[in-house]
Amino acid sequence: MSQVSETSVPTIAVTGSTGRLGGRVARRLAERDVPQKLLARNPARAPRLPGSVAVRGDYADQDAVREALAGTHTVFMVSASESADRLTQHKTFVDAAAEAGVGHLVYVSFYGAAPDATFTLARDHFHTEQHIRASGLAYTFLRDNFYAEFVPDLVGEDGVIRGPAGHGRAAFVGQDDIADVAAAVLLRPDDHAGRAYDLTGPESLTLDEAAVILSEQLGHTVTYQQETVEEAYASRTSYGAPMWQLDAWVSTYTAIASGELDGVSDAVPRLTGHPATPLAEVVRSAGG
Ligand SMILES: NC(=O)c1ccc[n+]([C@@H]2O[C@H](COP(=O)([O-])OP(=O)(O)OC[C@H]3O[C@@H](n4cnc5c(N)ncnc54)[C@H](OP(=O)(O)O)[C@@H]3O)[C@@H](O)[C@H]2O)c1
Repeated sequence: MSQVSETSVPTIAVTGSTGRLGGRVARRLAERDVPQKLLARNPARAPRLPGSVAVRGDYADQDAVREALAGTHTVFMVSASESADRLTQHKTFVDAAAEAGVGHLVYVSFYGAAPDATFTLARDHFHTEQHIRASGLAYTFLRDNFYAEFVPDLVGEDGVIRGPAGHGRAAFVGQDDIADVAAAVLLRPDDHAGRAYDLTGPESLTLDEAAVILSEQLGHTVTYQQETVEEAYASRTSYGAPMWQLDAWVSTYTAIASGELDGVSDAVPRLTGHPATPLAEVVRSAGG
């Protein structure tokens, strides 16, 4: 991490840099010699990148975020980790950004964000988007489909994906593609003000098709077995998770069944200049 001189005061702030998506975005900005502030709940855990300075910024701490964002023009905001009060944390962060005089907020939202979305967490994203619109901040929403990196995590120890997804499809998107889009938007925010981009992979897949791809890439047989909604809740109750978490897990699948995750957008190729990455390649690059 370098000291920030007066000539390189960061005008871009990045959240979530200790995580997968924010870390990818921060590395892309550093590779382009763009100074950046890395807001982190624990600044000591932020990556040490050329031109970066780490500052404390828990979404729930309005005063800390306002102070951290002072003098910043453009902010990349990943959605917070899943929790019962995630929407409140998001609203607190947005209010602090507006108070700090931020010019443009780039928010990582979700495909089909709507108040009545089948995927329960997509409702939080809709309400966060609404709060951002009402804040008066210029904004860009990156509405990501399910992460392709997350597909292998659906597979149980016995090689079976179980869930009530029917024969529905999802256009899983790779985080490197999302980060490429985010970097393009952060570097020219005015070109993307007021826009919401649906970010998808290049193909929309059933879980049967995803299982075939995973089998090839992981080197062992993966299959998909449909559950009813009742079976899905029953098979997950033993984890002792709160109801909102169970609803989120089960609605991951029912959202696919509903068709709300279906559809391929051209936003990744259009905004990055390269094709979107297929699921097989994402899984292969991750080392299977
Ligand atoms: N589209 C999808 O399929 C999908 C799947 C899973 C998750 N998501 C959402 O996408 C987000 C980014 O994904 P990811 O893979 O990068 O997740 P990740 O690796 O878990 O990283 C999340 C990052 O957000 C930071 N963060 C979380 N809550 C925060 C808070 N209240 N205040 C400040 N920072 C906070 C974490 O910081 P710390 O180091 O302090 O924890 C971490 O840097 C997730 O947080 C989740 O909301 C989407």
